[in-house]
Amino acid sequence: MSERKRVAVLISGRGSNMNSLISAAMHPDYPAEIALVLANKPDAGGLAKAEEMGIPTAVVDHRDYKGDREAFERAVDEILRTAKIEIVALAGFMRLLTPLLVNAWKDRMLNIHPALLPSFKGLATHERALDEGVKIHGATVHFVSAEMDDGPIIAQGAVPVLDDDTPATLAARVLSVEHQIYPKALALVASGKARLRDQRVATGAADASQADARLVVP
Ligand code: GRF
Repeated sequence: MSERKRVAVLISGRGSNMNSLISAAMHPDYPAEIALVLANKPDAGGLAKAEEMGIPTAVVDHRDYKGDREAFERAVDEILRTAKIEIVALAGFMRLLTPLLVNAWKDRMLNIHPALLPSFKGLATHERALDEGVKIHGATVHFVSAEMDDGPIIAQGAVPVLDDDTPATLAARVLSVEHQIYPKALALVASGKARLRDQRVATGAADASQADARLVVP
């Protein structure tokens, strides 16, 4: 299918979300192919997994660009363009981005965050959710804007918070939802079904039964 969108997945670590995107894209009807996995750390665990699955990989080590975030991002951007990438999916990519890369990929760069945005931006989301005593937690896929963990929301999935949860048990429950919503969100964007209207993303969910297919509440 030549119209499949070419996607790069950017990682810093184990790459379980990367894995879920690669698995989804193996289906011939999926509207995107994972054409590249790029890491900012040579020892990112996901790199080996991607190679095993036959996906081209690249490394741009941010430590080679100390103090110059834009030079790092120019190097990343160059690789993305050379690989003819059309959509970028951040999946545990632990770098704060400058407007240089964000603007270059405006409306074509997605991120997954382990919380129901706009709550709990930043790190340690599961600890903070437990500290606040929230009863529902989850994950969000959103378009990337210049602000950290901000930008129009494409998909969210919710999980209950249980009495005996620890940050680790809650993280595991949220992670399984992440693995469901990221492939769905990428498919919505790659197929053109996700349309930006001001700061809201319309996904063709006009009634509750259609919305169920896009929101995962296990
Ligand atoms: C995920 O929880 C993701 O939401 C967050 O970083 C973590 C990455 O995990 N941004 P993995 O590398 O995809 O397993």
